[in-house]
Amino acid sequence: MGSELIYRRHENQPVPDTYSPKQPKPWLAVERPVRYLLREQRLLFVLVGMALATLVFTLAPRAPLSPVKSTRPTTSDFTALESLSHRVAFETQPSYSFNPGGKIPLGLKRKGLRIVVTGGAGFVGSHLVDRLIKRGDSVIVVDNFFTGRKENVMHHFGNPRFELIRHDVVEPLLLEVDQIYHLACPASPVHYKFNPCVVWHKTNVVGTLNMLGLAKRVGARFLLTSTSEVYGDPLQHPQVETYWGNVNPIGVRSCYDEGKRTAETLTMDYHRGAGVEVRIARIFNTYGPRMCIDDGRVVSNFVAQALRKEPLTVYGDGKQTRSFQYVSDLVEGLIRLMEGEHVGPFNLGNPGEFTMLELAKVVQETIDPNARIEFRPNTEDDPHKRKPDITRAKEMLGWEPKVALRQGLPLMVKDFRTRVFGDQKEASSVAS
Ligand SMILES: NC(=O)c1ccc[n+]([C@@H]2O[C@H](COP(=O)([O-])OP(=O)(O)OC[C@H]3O[C@@H](n4cnc5c(N)ncnc54)[C@H](O)[C@@H]3O)[C@@H](O)[C@H]2O)c1
Repeated sequence: MGSELIYRRHENQPVPDTYSPKQPKPWLAVERPVRYLLREQRLLFVLVGMALATLVFTLAPRAPLSPVKSTRPTTSDFTALESLSHRVAFETQPSYSFNPGGKIPLGLKRKGLRIVVTGGAGFVGSHLVDRLIKRGDSVIVVDNFFTGRKENVMHHFGNPRFELIRHDVVEPLLLEVDQIYHLACPASPVHYKFNPCVVWHKTNVVGTLNMLGLAKRVGARFLLTSTSEVYGDPLQHPQVETYWGNVNPIGVRSCYDEGKRTAETLTMDYHRGAGVEVRIARIFNTYGPRMCIDDGRVVSNFVAQALRKEPLTVYGDGKQTRSFQYVSDLVEGLIRLMEGEHVGPFNLGNPGEFTMLELAKVVQETIDPNARIEFRPNTEDDPHKRKPDITRAKEMLGWEPKVALRQGLPLMVKDFRTRVFGDQKEASSVAS
């Protein structure tokens, strides 16, 4: 009954005997949209819009690499450091840029990396952390504060991209990260004469093994900060990376020299045997703000002595040579090495060579022309000459130091002055 009520119109239509395919639309069917586009200068508007968009994406400045600014105050030294470093040039150079495809259009952020810096509360580590945070990465500092200080990284507290873990690298640690900068190791002679076996060998051997194990497990890239000390008392001058060195294996300094040599060996073994992506930097003498005061390194010794009106102690005849690199140059080299394609090792140092007496003169000129020089017997195994050949770093990393000793030293002196006299000033202001 219901079905009878349904009106089936098609049943009344005549059914054709033969199948005839649908007629193709004439080409002129596009004529209508074309005419629509041409009407009221619509096409013109579309073209002008496209031209404007192209112009904006081509000429617009890149998005800032550090969208989150630390709420903590930074010292004026940082501003000075920034002006001296050539990071701006680095970040705009396409070959080392993190966006090889071109500029990051406004509004689009570069994806930050997760990076561990062991020894990040120390002198070099804290400057490296500043750069990585500024670039927009998330940084985890792992430090046992043996020679490092919380004050060096305190200005990042409260930044969600910064974490600080008190941990000894001699103990294993599991973290999900993209890169590991392995700096943990006290670097000054004063410290490596203290309990050398436990501290140095364990840190350099067990600590490096642990961090390489972590890199292997999570597939992170690993950078080892080795040292020019692997060349010992060099018989070749200046030192090229292919030189195997002249190290006394049983001397007082050998815990440091041999420890770093073993760390290099382990790094290369993990690279060859386990396919870990590694980088090795051989760092030459570096100076700058946040260096440990009284840590026995020659630049910090002279600066602290001159500020306190004490005689500058020169060991031996003062004719031994060293080269001095400003910390921002080193940080630049470390980042280029990590981001580049070459394993190394690479010498990272300033090839400008100074005798200890010449250095003492520069310190006198900068701080106190009347500062006295006092000679003391030299320490055992003190290298006579040290000067990096940086041809490899120049050619493969496009890196060379920019800051001369006379430019960098005043920045360090400013920081030391605040730390050496800071307490006294506070004490006097409290008293008055
Ligand atoms: N500064 C230089 O002139 C120089 C030269 C050659 C090599 N290096 C290398 O660069 C790296 C950094 O040197 P620096 O001058 O900043 O020294 P530093 O002593 O200021 O920093 C080393 C940091 O590592 C931490 N640390 C030490 N042992 C640790 C452990 N077992 N676990 C966790 N943290 C530990 C210390 O607390 C400190 O914060 C070192 O590996 C050093 O050998 C430095």
